[in-house]
Amino acid sequence: MSKQILNSFRFNSIKILLILICVFTQSHATDLIRTKNGMVVSASEIASRVGVQILKKGGNAVDAAVATELALAVTFPAAGNLGGGGFMVIRLNDGTTTTIDYREKAPFAAHKDMFLDENGNFVPELSQSSILGVGIPGTVAGVIYALEKYGTMKLADVIQPAINLAEDGFPLERWTAQTLSSAFRSLEKYESSMKVFSKNGEPYKEGEIFRQPDLTKTLKAIRDKGHDGFYKGWVADAIVAQSDKMNGIITHKDLEKYQAVEREPLKGTYKDYQIISMGPSSSGGTALIKMLNILENFDFERSDFSSSKYYHALIQSMKYAYADRAEHLGDEDFYPVPKKWLISKEYAKEIFQKITDSATPSDEISAGIPFNESDETTHYSVYDRFGNAVSTTLTINSLYGSKIVVDGAGFLLNNEMDDFSAKPGVPNQFGLLGSKANSIEPGKRMLSAMTPTIVLKDDKPVLIVGSPGGSTIITSVLQVVMNVIEFNMNLREAVDLPRIHHQWKPDLLEHEPFALNSDTEIKLKEKGHIIGRQRSLGRIEAILIDQQNGYIYGKSDGRAWGKAVGY
Ligand code: DON
Repeated sequence: MSKQILNSFRFNSIKILLILICVFTQSHATDLIRTKNGMVVSASEIASRVGVQILKKGGNAVDAAVATELALAVTFPAAGNLGGGGFMVIRLNDGTTTTIDYREKAPFAAHKDMFLDENGNFVPELSQSSILGVGIPGTVAGVIYALEKYGTMKLADVIQPAINLAEDGFPLERWTAQTLSSAFRSLEKYESSMKVFSKNGEPYKEGEIFRQPDLTKTLKAIRDKGHDGFYKGWVADAIVAQSDKMNGIITHKDLEKYQAVEREPLKGTYKDYQIISMGPSSSGGTALIKMLNILENFDFERSDFSSSKYYHALIQSMKYAYADRAEHLGDEDFYPVPKKWLISKEYAKEIFQKITDSATPSDEISAGIPFNESDETTHYSVYDRFGNAVSTTLTINSLYGSKIVVDGAGFLLNNEMDDFSAKPGVPNQFGLLGSKANSIEPGKRMLSAMTPTIVLKDDKPVLIVGSPGGSTIITSVLQVVMNVIEFNMNLREAVDLPRIHHQWKPDLLEHEPFALNSDTEIKLKEKGHIIGRQRSLGRIEAILIDQQNGYIYGKSDGRAWGKAVGY
């Protein structure tokens, strides 16, 4: 068979594969939307519509981003939030690139051993399911900072759709109904959470009207008083009272001192594409750029997609990136992260030269690292008709965060303290390891894997992308970026095709259904890779811009029920 025929066969099989995936897994193919003016892709259709409404009113991508994010706090409570944090990557049409870090911080009374028992053993319940797991929320500070500096509209205008949704209610969307039902038993432990999420003792169901009167009051306080409406006054009092009632350590000082930080983005290249992503306190951009730098040294052809050659290169790059993550990454305000070196082409070349045809085994640290199924974060991407792009990932960490609603204020608190390395060598809920760089210190931001990213070509945005998925966020974003810029796929294929994941430790290759055909699997095993479990990896929300003819494509991952909305 000639190479051309073989290639066309491979790519027809990709289409068949997409259909098979939809039939045999829970996933479904959400529409690929094409438009010319503007696009918002998020995990909630209602929130995407709010963003587009702001774009239509003449707002820019940052106005729409803030409106979408505040709407997600109402319509997507599993991860959209006022009680958590996130990272926003912005690229304006005048070439300005920047990032807003509004990651949660450890309270001032936090200390290195706060999640260890008297024998020095890590107690995951403390960091994951207690008030001590709550980091000082950053979302309100972050979105207000972004809006005031880079938006064009007033807070009162971009927050109003969220207020209306909370006050008047909205039909509960499918994903939220599903996740609410699965998290209900944990939410039930807290009276304040039941006040919000239960209807006569049962979780709200898909399509039922979900109203949130306490959250409405909080949103109005933010509308009227801005940053201080959350970090001071009655909302702050309610947060501290909730914490005190449960023997927590959050104080008014923690809230008053919280500020979002604007940071230089992390920049890299892959062939003739530029990558703009998030630096510390996220590990996302560093690891993404490092893996792309390694992969750039290989020679891939389109037909290499899903081959053992490609997956071997991916896995080896992932292992090296996650090994460095565990050792070197943490909040830069507290720890000198050697990020220039980590994302240098020279360092990537050194690693590339070490990659042989066999798997390099990861050293063993601890056996049987559990992964928690119930996790949730969310990403949204925005592009406006002026050419401005925003890529934001936000989280309260686990599904519905700590499950603790602030009584009277109607929003969930995060359990982000679990993202710190509570004890060297002991993994967190995502199986991730850490070191001194990410140890708990008062006022420090815990390390994240969130990877909001914008890819440019010839200085113009071509891809806006990000994902939830804990430790698998970085590798999910990596594979979508590679699918678009190396394998030249359309956005639907790039997002929906199966993915793999390796995070160095445990030394296991995780994969989605259909990711490994039997030939690839045999060859990977021959190279020494250990095949781990099969599970869903990431949920991408992406925008692709065809700068040649001005089309904007939006795609929400077929693995969930988000929606691209354009106009
Ligand atoms: O910041 C982080 O890396 C984690 N807190 C993200 C958690 C997450 O993605 C859970 N979602 N699926």
